[in-house]
Amino acid sequence: MLSQALRNARSYEEIQETTIAPEERPLFHLTPRCGWMNDPNGFCYYNGYYHLFYQYYPYSAVWGLMHWGHAVSRDLLHWEYLPAAMAPDKFYDRRGVYSGSAITRDDGTHVLMFTAVGDNTDPTRSDPEIQTQCMAFGDGIDYEKYSGNPVLTAEDLPEGCSRVHFRDPKMWREEDGTYLCAVSNMSEIEGGQVHLFRSDDLVHWKYWKVLDSNRDRFGTMWECPDFFPLDGRQVLLVSPQDMQPSGFEYHNGNGNLCLIGSYDRETGTFTEERDQAVDYGIDFYAAQTVLTPDGRRVMIGWMQNWDAIAIRAKTAKWAGQMSFPRELSIRDGRLCQAPLREIVSLYQDSVSYTDVPVGAAGEVSLEGVSGRCLDMTIRVRPADQDHIYHKFAMRFAQKGNLHTAVSFRPHEETVKVDRKYSGSCRAIVHQRRCLVKGSATGELTIRMVLDRFSAELFINDGIYVMTISLFTDLEAEGISFIADGEAVIDVEKHKLG
Ligand code: FRU
Repeated sequence: MLSQALRNARSYEEIQETTIAPEERPLFHLTPRCGWMNDPNGFCYYNGYYHLFYQYYPYSAVWGLMHWGHAVSRDLLHWEYLPAAMAPDKFYDRRGVYSGSAITRDDGTHVLMFTAVGDNTDPTRSDPEIQTQCMAFGDGIDYEKYSGNPVLTAEDLPEGCSRVHFRDPKMWREEDGTYLCAVSNMSEIEGGQVHLFRSDDLVHWKYWKVLDSNRDRFGTMWECPDFFPLDGRQVLLVSPQDMQPSGFEYHNGNGNLCLIGSYDRETGTFTEERDQAVDYGIDFYAAQTVLTPDGRRVMIGWMQNWDAIAIRAKTAKWAGQMSFPRELSIRDGRLCQAPLREIVSLYQDSVSYTDVPVGAAGEVSLEGVSGRCLDMTIRVRPADQDHIYHKFAMRFAQKGNLHTAVSFRPHEETVKVDRKYSGSCRAIVHQRRCLVKGSATGELTIRMVLDRFSAELFINDGIYVMTISLFTDLEAEGISFIADGEAVIDVEKHKLG
């Protein structure tokens, strides 16, 4: 039996969706069926489809009482909405159905694990709410919350752990058949933490151990953990809140942190070796990964930043987008990201140029190089190695006074994105710089995956990635290049359709 709250959400979204014309949405990035979207949830492959759930408030374009929205795709390029999967309709989740993950049980049941936010009924505690972990079982469309919920409460945590911040379970299965899940928490002493729990049947979960802790390094609470092997290393992704910048790292306040290390499965010991931001742009958070049937680790993040959400009007019909799926690898000890390779199936008109001089002659535009939905790679180098140019910039989504720019200063080894002139009239963060080590030679490759309302920049084959959302008038389709000094570029542009 579907609850009234879920039926309401389903009938509301079905009607509301029809008021949003396809051109008002991105071409190939997922947006909420209507209203508000944040974190990706339950990203998985089930019965021949990728399923992506998301934090969802259908009733307006601002964060509200959280539901789980739901979409499926055969190829991660074309998405189809399914009815909302969960609504807050139990006493234990009346303040929201928060983030979580999905897995398939051997009998074919689709299993969701999520954080329920409920009222605190313990008079000895002052916080109005509590967070617990719960299960739901379904068939890929309809889900029933487990009658024994919650399966984990703060009582399952060791002493000194927050009773309020306990959320975002990510499940996976070990080779011996055991289920594990990683859940975020705040410890009084250690700060953000990720705890491991074990289960044999997906409903009885036992505390195992602390997988990793913040120890005053990266922000406060760690949200949305994901944990997986990659190219012989082990990766822990978390989204810390309230991070302070350190050099060129962690400028996002709330950002996505990647810890790379080694893992001893027997003892559940993760040994950190390196840390880095996942994305050096402005809008990327709460990433989740899936393992594709052909063995690729693919990541999707929420393409928005909590501090910059004012870029979208509160009256918009939708707010929040998912990033383009990214294939992950480890290169030179760093997390490396590449747009999902199937993007080539969207290529329409391809244009390429080689050895185009950009410099004193002023702004350069190239025949056939324009548009708002494209995959374009620019290779820039100095015209003369003995006189390395000072700055090279590419402007896009350009018309009249409008443009967004990505610029590169070889002497600083920095790449900057700047959406100040993108049409935004809000005083939010509009620029971000990224240090690209080894780029002082003036040689750089920028691959831009541009959709109507976002730009994802993969620098030097994805060793650094910068993501921004932008809401420039769609008529602004121009692209141009300028340089201070003399540069030469190769351009390869594919329209996406
Ligand atoms: C991260 C987050 C999660 C929580 C959800 C609530 O963006 O704060 O920790 O589960 O969003 O919508």
